[in-house]
Amino acid sequence: MNSFRQAIETGASPDELRSIPIPEVYRAAFVNKDEVTVFEGLPTSEKDPRNSLHVEEVPVPEMAPDEVLVAVMASSINYNTVWTSIFEPVPTFAFLERLGRSSSSWNRRHDLPYHVLGSDGSGVIIRVGSAVRNWKIGDKVVIHCNYVDDQDPTGHDDSMLSYDQKIWGFESNFGGLADLTLVKANQLMPKPTHLSWEESACNALCNSTSYRMLVSKNGAAIKQGQRVLIWGATGGIGGYAVQYVLNGGAVPVGVVSSEAKVELLHELGCEAVINRNEKNYRFWKDEHNQDESEWRRFGKDVRALVGEDPDIVFEHPGRQTFGASVFVAKRGGVIMTCAATTGYMIEYDNRHLWMKLKTIKSSHFANYREAWDANKLVCEGKIQPILSATYMLENVGEATNLVHKNRHEGKVGILCLASGPNMGIDNPEFREKVGEDKITLFSRHGAKADSTSK
Ligand SMILES: NC(=O)c1ccc[n+]([C@@H]2O[C@H](COP(=O)([O-])OP(=O)(O)OC[C@H]3O[C@@H](n4cnc5c(N)ncnc54)[C@H](OP(=O)(O)O)[C@@H]3O)[C@@H](O)[C@H]2O)c1
Repeated sequence: MNSFRQAIETGASPDELRSIPIPEVYRAAFVNKDEVTVFEGLPTSEKDPRNSLHVEEVPVPEMAPDEVLVAVMASSINYNTVWTSIFEPVPTFAFLERLGRSSSSWNRRHDLPYHVLGSDGSGVIIRVGSAVRNWKIGDKVVIHCNYVDDQDPTGHDDSMLSYDQKIWGFESNFGGLADLTLVKANQLMPKPTHLSWEESACNALCNSTSYRMLVSKNGAAIKQGQRVLIWGATGGIGGYAVQYVLNGGAVPVGVVSSEAKVELLHELGCEAVINRNEKNYRFWKDEHNQDESEWRRFGKDVRALVGEDPDIVFEHPGRQTFGASVFVAKRGGVIMTCAATTGYMIEYDNRHLWMKLKTIKSSHFANYREAWDANKLVCEGKIQPILSATYMLENVGEATNLVHKNRHEGKVGILCLASGPNMGIDNPEFREKVGEDKITLFSRHGAKADSTSK
């Protein structure tokens, strides 16, 4: 893959890229099927991705007619990288085995004793399958992770409803944390010309998820002036959620866990912020019982900041916060949920839901149209990347552990083929127009936090 790196970084033509042979093996980050029990008996917090993630060469898979091979310049860590690497809630080999039982031989390729993970990527197309129409060798792309078969009729209102819908690099193999990836042509989107490889690679998964949850008609479809409570407001999905709320003329209330994150949110333009650590909310009295008086105290704090109860709650921590989220939402409000980081067996008081006509609405990633529209906003400089730190592929375990331990802000980027950071910016004039300070807000903040902690 070194020849591809060199060619891309020196601006080779599509013909030159075509003339470089595809190697037999490529470097990738993966977990091994024979290691899924290594963490048995350990509490979740002690399962260390550095002990399960390997970076080594694996064979290049055969390309289907509707697929492309992308030389991956950069990728990013998502929370699903954490789940795969600690084998929770189930080892992702179960998903690959399901693909292995498919009648399609192309699906069966994925069932291997190793799982190459990663659900984000930016790079350059180096081969296209015979059925690919809209993309060609040399195109600079970012990749979204909605992995669907466009011949499946169940996906044609909304591909997220496709019976066979999967997340690339989590429920499928050959993910983006590698020098090469194999994706369907319907996962491709143009790379933002004003961003580096790693700034481009960090957006698609989290940005599209937040877009669907808040902007799309499939989600909460925010209106001007609405109050939106955002848990983990400087995290991967939270950092984009705040931007969508502000862009839509609504009022975000961000919840975070440190003063440094409060400061970051203020710089992002979110005035109403709650430091949950400082407030020391105890929504759970013990493992089995919640404390309504703590929900009430939280609701009062939100109201004191923005004058009203939230119309929308952007919910993803799950078990720890869900009872509070249902309680604080406004009469007729919506609790938008896409995850359950702290536990998926949820408890809330149903009286507060039905008597106040609230709705719990679920969301999962985004269809191609939503991902495309969210990416367009990044390309136009209206949504900024929230990259706070960048690691080399060989340090993917370290980077994943950072996210697992909640010691990061925004997104953590990974350099794959790119030989260094800040490369791949094709339109510096537009970058200047958007504003270096806006684009690099999270990384400047991350660097500052690093130097203070030393
Ligand atoms: N369904 C989908 O399509 C989809 C897509 C993307 C992500 N997800 C899921 O969404 C979740 C968040 O993803 P992410 O990328 O935003 O992860 P992240 O970058 O780790 O951010 C999550 C944030 O949650 C907050 N948090 C953690 N524990 C909490 C607790 N006990 N109470 C309140 N807040 C807590 C943390 O913020 P503070 O510590 O600052 O409060 C953290 O920054 C993950 O479970 C992920 O798998 C789902």
